Amino acid sequence: MTTPDGSGRGSGAHGLAGRPPSASGRTGTRLYWVPAAASPSTAAAPAMPSAPVVPTGGFDVEAVRREFPQLHREVNGHPLVWLDNGATTLKPRQVVEAVGEHYATSTSNVHRGAHTLARQATRIYEEGRAEAAELLGTPDPDEVVFVRGTTEAVNLVAQSWGRANLGVGDEILVSAAEHHSNLVPWQLIAKEKRARVVPVPLLPDGQLDQDAYRDLLSHRTKLVALTHASNVLGTVPPVAEMTALAHRYGARVLVDGAQAVSHFPVDVKALDADFYAFSGHKVFAPTGIGVLYGKRDLLEAMPPWQGGGNMIDSVSFDETTYAPVPHRLEAGTGHIAGVAGLRAALRYLSGLDRQAATAHEEQLTAYATAALATVPGLRLIGDAPGKIGVLTFLLAGVDPMAVAAQLDQQGIAVRAGHHCAQPALAAYGLQSAVRASLALYNTVQDVDSLVGALQGVQATTAA
Ligand code: ALA
Repeated sequence: MTTPDGSGRGSGAHGLAGRPPSASGRTGTRLYWVPAAASPSTAAAPAMPSAPVVPTGGFDVEAVRREFPQLHREVNGHPLVWLDNGATTLKPRQVVEAVGEHYATSTSNVHRGAHTLARQATRIYEEGRAEAAELLGTPDPDEVVFVRGTTEAVNLVAQSWGRANLGVGDEILVSAAEHHSNLVPWQLIAKEKRARVVPVPLLPDGQLDQDAYRDLLSHRTKLVALTHASNVLGTVPPVAEMTALAHRYGARVLVDGAQAVSHFPVDVKALDADFYAFSGHKVFAPTGIGVLYGKRDLLEAMPPWQGGGNMIDSVSFDETTYAPVPHRLEAGTGHIAGVAGLRAALRYLSGLDRQAATAHEEQLTAYATAALATVPGLRLIGDAPGKIGVLTFLLAGVDPMAVAAQLDQQGIAVRAGHHCAQPALAAYGLQSAVRASLALYNTVQDVDSLVGALQGVQATTAA
């Protein structure tokens, strides 16, 4: 399933058609493309699409749903329709049990193996690291650093690698599609080091402007910060190609995989990413645990960013020496129960037919896109080819928060607001939007519930 761009998706999907004349902001006065405001027009909407053909290859969505207890509860008197997967994913039974077992019968610290339970917890912890390495396609578990989540991973790189490697006048290219977690840490370190954060602009459909990117790269570029899948537009940039270009200038590339890892197979070696980050809770694991992947030579050259237990070799008032990676970058007791849950989640995921799961999500995304188009006054934001199932939209005449509140009354969970990606929304002249985000356990019925409820919201508003 893995393709040359390491995304597991067809790379032909990332052409540059539709580039508007003002899309590149390097020398022009306008960085962003701002389309006309949503029209309240209720001109004849297209008919509902027919439901997609069930994918072949052994993906049984109903069997998958049976493993997720929360999918079987009600909210506000309605069966829960969970379409807030971009914010967090639900947990399979295996994850709930693994976390419960750690706290109920197997609590211990790790790497302090004076007793049986410490050795058992250490084995599970290090197996979790090996599972994360396998998920990312590295054969070396020491390239996996446990962190709280994607945000902490980016801050770690900014504060350790960035402080050691950035200087006055250096540039950090950050795509305009980034979540704040892959922008603000760069702004903080850039200010300290008197470096510059330079945006890579978007095209109207949500793709990154590759012409502008090529123009922006220079010998001043020290790092490129790039999402592997946008949390607000769903865009999957051509990361492997962009990384290869950055490397020509000697720049490093950090990829934010928070929204990617649950949707399609990832191979950091095929991408040639220097750093890759993800959060456990967006891939069916607990909150508070995440992963930073870094190439071994880069991690080994990075100074510690936090000091304390677990990260040292020997300590004295005269001289302190540090443990090898990854422990050198993991000060203090880690989230042991979180790693137990992550291990269970990644084992659960690797037990699925990932290719069939991705095909299911792609079909559902296509169906949802067509189905939402049948809602009068609905405008989708971001339609880059090959996007993941992130459906961000506006409903003419209704505030996004009000849309989400009305959906909630029917048990439908979506997110509304700026989605922690204000520059991406600003590129469309927006401050707020509604977002429905899909996961592998969502169904045509979930989409139909959403569309039916939105038609009801629209009818109530128009009345
Ligand atoms: N980053 C998460 C989201 O996109 C919280 O909703």
